[in-house]
Amino acid sequence: MISAPAPFYIESNIESIPTLESSKMKLFHILQNENTNVEQVEKVISTDPAMAAKIIRLANSPFYRHCQQPLGMHQSLLTIGLDMVKCIVLSMAVMESFNSSSKRAVHLWKHSYAVALMVLSMGLDKQEKETLFTGALLHDLGRMVFLYKVPSAYIPLFDFEGNRPDIGLEQDVFQTDHTIIGEAVAKKWHFPDEIIGIIKNHHMPNNRASALIFLINTVINELEKDQPCEIDQYSRMLTGFLGKSYKDLVNTIIHRYKTNTVIIENMF
Ligand SMILES: [Fe+2]
Ligand SMILES: [Fe+2]
Repeated sequence: MISAPAPFYIESNIESIPTLESSKMKLFHILQNENTNVEQVEKVISTDPAMAAKIIRLANSPFYRHCQQPLGMHQSLLTIGLDMVKCIVLSMAVMESFNSSSKRAVHLWKHSYAVALMVLSMGLDKQEKETLFTGALLHDLGRMVFLYKVPSAYIPLFDFEGNRPDIGLEQDVFQTDHTIIGEAVAKKWHFPDEIIGIIKNHHMPNNRASALIFLINTVINELEKDQPCEIDQYSRMLTGFLGKSYKDLVNTIIHRYKTNTVIIENMF
């Protein structure tokens, strides 16, 4: 048993977390508008050299590159698509707030990108798609807070293969867990209730959205560990929220994860 540091006092710790960088969040909201076009996005991104460089680097990575000519900003945006840009914008905003590019933080972002990319096509309408996508990207926000606020206490909880600690262990050590912390930060950042709900309930689903993130998160956790996906134990709960077709979703997630890991690797 790892000796417990002081309990993680949510109020005092959350208070000191900075707000999200406003220009990136402005761009994120522009990207959420379905009438937004590439020209508008290009104009805003060109004022942020770090983000522009990241987008161009990704579009010119071997996964996307099909021609010899290096791609400029406009072509890069068309190549990777605005959903991928959204991933980059929101994650950069959060990363900047937490000022973290540690190995664990990068690994956690890769995991969050993977969940977000898998859920992209599972929304029933535009509104649900946006909720699922943002909720997926931020579902483990509380872990990022632990890494930012108490890295010396949190990092030793990862196992020797680098796997993230489960909620029970977080509770033992901090008397709280990443779903509670994530919920508190998402509230502070004024995310909509549906997204806060996903962050809060992604390990104990209470509706369709949190069940979808739970399913994708569980399957990806197993794939990351190179283990077979054992989800039969959740069958009743998943059938209740997603219907029997949740089993087809598992195959879709596995297939999509395998084809997308190269993209995710190229983002860092
Ligand atoms: Fe989680
Ligand atoms: Fe997760």
